[in-house]
Amino acid sequence: MESTLDFSPEHFKDLLDKTTELVLNQFENINTLDGYNDFPQPEVESWFNEPLPIDGMDVSDLLEIVQERVLKTATGNLGPHMYAYVMSGGNQTAIIAEKLATTINQNQTKWHLAPALNEIEKRVVSWTAELLGFPKDSGGVLVSGGSAANLTGMTVGRNIFFEKQNIRKTGLFNQKPFVVYASEEVHSCVDKSVELLGIGTNHLRKITTDSEFKINLDELETTIKTDIEIGLQPFCLIGNAGTVNTGAIDDLNALADIAEKYNLWYHIDGAYGSLAGILDSLKADYRGMERGDSIAIDFHKWLYVPFEGGCTLVRSWDKLKRTYFKKAAYLDTELANEGNRMEFNEHYFQLSRNSKAFKVWMTMKAYGMQRIKEMIQKDIDLTDYLNDLVRESNDFELVADSKLAVSCFRYVGTMKSKDEIDDFNKKLMPELEKDGRVFIMGTTLKGEYAIRACLINHRKTKDTTKYLLDVIRDVAQKMLLIKT
Ligand SMILES: Cc1ncc(COP(=O)(O)O)c(C=O)c1O
Repeated sequence: MESTLDFSPEHFKDLLDKTTELVLNQFENINTLDGYNDFPQPEVESWFNEPLPIDGMDVSDLLEIVQERVLKTATGNLGPHMYAYVMSGGNQTAIIAEKLATTINQNQTKWHLAPALNEIEKRVVSWTAELLGFPKDSGGVLVSGGSAANLTGMTVGRNIFFEKQNIRKTGLFNQKPFVVYASEEVHSCVDKSVELLGIGTNHLRKITTDSEFKINLDELETTIKTDIEIGLQPFCLIGNAGTVNTGAIDDLNALADIAEKYNLWYHIDGAYGSLAGILDSLKADYRGMERGDSIAIDFHKWLYVPFEGGCTLVRSWDKLKRTYFKKAAYLDTELANEGNRMEFNEHYFQLSRNSKAFKVWMTMKAYGMQRIKEMIQKDIDLTDYLNDLVRESNDFELVADSKLAVSCFRYVGTMKSKDEIDDFNKKLMPELEKDGRVFIMGTTLKGEYAIRACLINHRKTKDTTKYLLDVIRDVAQKMLLIKT
């Protein structure tokens, strides 16, 4: 019997070399990678439908299976033909970072378990604060993504706002219901957070938006006043720094004023858009973002790191600690206060954590923020180009323009009625999925169905952008032919 799970150095090197080959293969035809591989679900299930392995297998053979069943069938996130959701293509430096971070298997929970990586996480938090105009000594924590980052910001908000009532001890019993405000375009993870935090979606006010999908400020203030009159406790206001549907940026400065006036916790969902706020061309649109009490950021969006990597910033470390700190005998150390050790477990819910900050740090250092800015600007410029192509065409119509990298449009062909166009575009989506050349999804905007393209991948070009409309047109025309 072998005494450990390790391979001999030669065998391990051979496996690493084979893995490197597989990584390189992924980039071989990246510019022509299809958006989606349409394998039927039962077929994919059948590939993995096997008994629990009792005896192991040769890893070279396993890599062959992985190549056929996992790598070759992967959805085309890396390539330029992915337009659905908010999927950036990752970056190669982060691939290297992930491999190295996994190798040293550090646990980012206590300083002495990962000294360098803890300092790196602290540095990533302070660089992020600097980028977004938050105070230099802001606290923060790397989390899985935008959903976790919003939940974290709102949790800190709730615990600090109700600190005097000692809700960490007494729970929410006997509290007057407290109310959260956001626009109707807010991401669904805010609804989920409101449920998880015991607030209940009956106390989430979804304020209507204007023609640019930004929150209506008058309606917001009237709603807050009404809630106060009827004896509820307005508690948290959420601003969108780039909505998922259309990339709308609320008037973040006006929201900060309203939050101040009514003494609300001001949380900003910047999961998608906050990093575009570093562009000179968009500075004015993001005015007021720096006034948030907390903000959610997603590095797996506009920093192009692979999944997962999000961050919550709060204006001080102390607020995170007052939300999460728990004493536990087996976590105590005499050296805890030596120097400026950061104990992340005292500032966040998770205990064991991998280092999400490492790939973010390597990405920032390898490319520098100037190049990242250029890539974000390129995504936005390509979206403007797509919008122009849509406007100039005689078979598509633009539904929502955006300052960020989302375009919402519809295929209209020669159809006249709104219902017919709605119905056709809905039916177009599964046909495009079957076709697979591009991967795109739709959404509903003020009751109208639209195709939604999110261009957030540094590998896109004008040609790939034009190709998107060519493919949609081609699939649409085939559908129309079958109909007639
Ligand atoms: C504005 C916004 N908020 C929150 C999220 C959720 O982020 P994640 O998918 O990383 O949990 C998204 C995702 O697209 C988003 O665009």
